[in-house]
Order: sequence, then structure tokens, then C-alpha cells
Amino acid sequence: MNLGFIGTGKISSSVINGICNSSIKYKKIIISSRNNKVANQLKRKFKKIFIEKDNQKIVNNCNWIFLAVTPSVGEKIIKNLNFRSNQTIISFISTINIENLKKMVKVKANVVRAIPLPPISLGKGPVPICPPNKKVKDFFDQIGSTIQIKSEKLSINFWSMSGMMASYYNMLNIMSNWLVKKGIKRADAQKYITSLFLALSEDAVVNSKKNLRHLVKVSQTPKGLNEQGLKEMRKKRVFNSIEKTLSLIYKRLYK
Ligand SMILES: NC(=O)c1ccc[n+]([C@@H]2O[C@H](COP(=O)([O-])OP(=O)(O)OC[C@H]3O[C@@H](n4cnc5c(N)ncnc54)[C@H](OP(=O)(O)O)[C@@H]3O)[C@@H](O)[C@H]2O)c1
Repeated sequence: MNLGFIGTGKISSSVINGICNSSIKYKKIIISSRNNKVANQLKRKFKKIFIEKDNQKIVNNCNWIFLAVTPSVGEKIIKNLNFRSNQTIISFISTINIENLKKMVKVKANVVRAIPLPPISLGKGPVPICPPNKKVKDFFDQIGSTIQIKSEKLSINFWSMSGMMASYYNMLNIMSNWLVKKGIKRADAQKYITSLFLALSEDAVVNSKKNLRHLVKVSQTPKGLNEQGLKEMRKKRVFNSIEKTLSLIYKRLYK
């Protein structure tokens, strides 16, 4: 099977790294020459990568085609590509819905939307897909953990959540900077913060069958530092602002 990527930016590069380091079986991965720098890095790193300038040639020579361009580029280029009905088209594009994708694709191919995130390069992280598709699920299960979602309306909630990644990293950055300002070396500060949040996340995964409220409760000693921290953040309405932010991202996605 040949896999084709239209758009070779951040998310394609992460998915391709994940695929090439996994046991997924494929013959070739054909990627577009844009972005040239990322495409050449991938070609140098992995043997079965081929770069192609013409997007139509990628479509002609592949069984599965991943659409990984920004929405504005997608609106312009997808409708001009000629797909075949026996192809599977997997779109990573955030704001083009399935109905519009199908119109642009024209033929009755399998069209699936997926939300991989950069840690897929490490073979980790959730990959919501919509609509459910057994082959696409089995594929992403080898580089992450697929969640099949029946309705596109429900899948928009996961797209909203995917918009919180940069804010999460910014939070880690702010806490590291705070330690640095207090005189801790940057390397030590970042090592502390990243390993702390990795450990907390791993513990949350282990406990994820219980309501997460449980971890909030057991991580506070009465009158302790965490109780104080939570109270202060509640007073400053930090958590309300997280909910509001999610609603605003959702609003942009669900028109
Ligand atoms: N980044 C994420 O974590 C993530 C996660 C899930 C979904 N997505 C979605 O995936 C899509 C791509 O995101 P990204 O972060 O990977 O963006 P990106 O890094 O900007 O990558 C987009 C790529 O498309 C290329 N491109 C532009 N015009 C093209 C054309 N006519 N033909 C072929 N390629 C063309 C760009 O090349 P040039 O640089 O040469 O213009 C660029 O390399 C977006 O719709 C985004 O919403 C992203």
C-alpha cells in the first residue's frame, strides 16, 4: 500500500515519524514537496519516503491520501484533484466538514476526518476519527489510540480540545520561567516541570476509570499548599476561563 501526504508540515511530519517508527506495513510514502525543508528532512531520515511536486501525482500513485494542509489551502486545492472511488482519504484539516470534503472529492471514496496530535511521532496520544472506519482505526491504533466517533457534531468537541495544546505547553513554560526567575538553572527548571507533569499525567491515566474529581480531592492535604493553590485559581476564575475558551473554539468549528 502507498500512502500519500498532501501538505508536509508539522502534523504530516509527526504522523510520518510515527508510521516509520512503527510496524505499519506500507510500500512507499509519497509526500508533497511543500514544505521543502520538512520534506527533505523526512526523506533523509527514512528510506521509503519519496517527494513529489505535483499533488495530482501523489493522488494517482497512492491508496490512502492524507490531507494535511491548512483549511484555506484545502478549499483551494482539493476540488481540483481527481480521486478514485477505491481510495481512502483521511483529512486532518480542522474546519472543512465531511459534507464539504465529499463534495470536493466528487467520487464516492472513503472520506474520514482524523485528529492526530504531534505526540503521534512518539507513537502516543488519542486519535479521534469520524465516521468509524475499521481499517483507519487499526492503522492509527499502531501509532496511538483511536477513538471512533459516529457523529461529526460530537467529533467537534474533540477538535475543540485539540486547540488546548499550545496553552498547556505555555503553562509549563510559565512555571519553568518562574523557577528560572527564582534562580534555578533553566535545564533543571524544565527537567523538574516536564517530569512532574508527565508523572501527574501518568497517574491520571492509571486512575482514569474513576471520576477525575477523585485526584483533585486526594492531592489536597487539608490546609495544605495544593488546597491553597486550587482556592486561589478558583478565585481568579482560571477554570471558568478554560471552559469559556473551549466554548469559543467550539463556536468557530461548529457553524
Ligand atoms: N499541527 C497540529 O498539531 C495539527 C493537529 C491536527 C490537525 N491539524 C490540521 O492539519 C492541517 C495542517 O496543519 P499543520 O500544523 O501541519 O500546518 P503546517 O505546518 O502549516 O503545514 C501545512 C503545509 O501545507 C503546505 N502547503 C501549502 N500549500 C500547499 C499546496 N498547494 N500543496 C501542498 N502543500 C501545500 C505548506 O507548505 P509551505 O510551507 O511551503 O507553504 C505546509 O508545509 C491544518 O488544517 C490543521 O488544522 C494540525
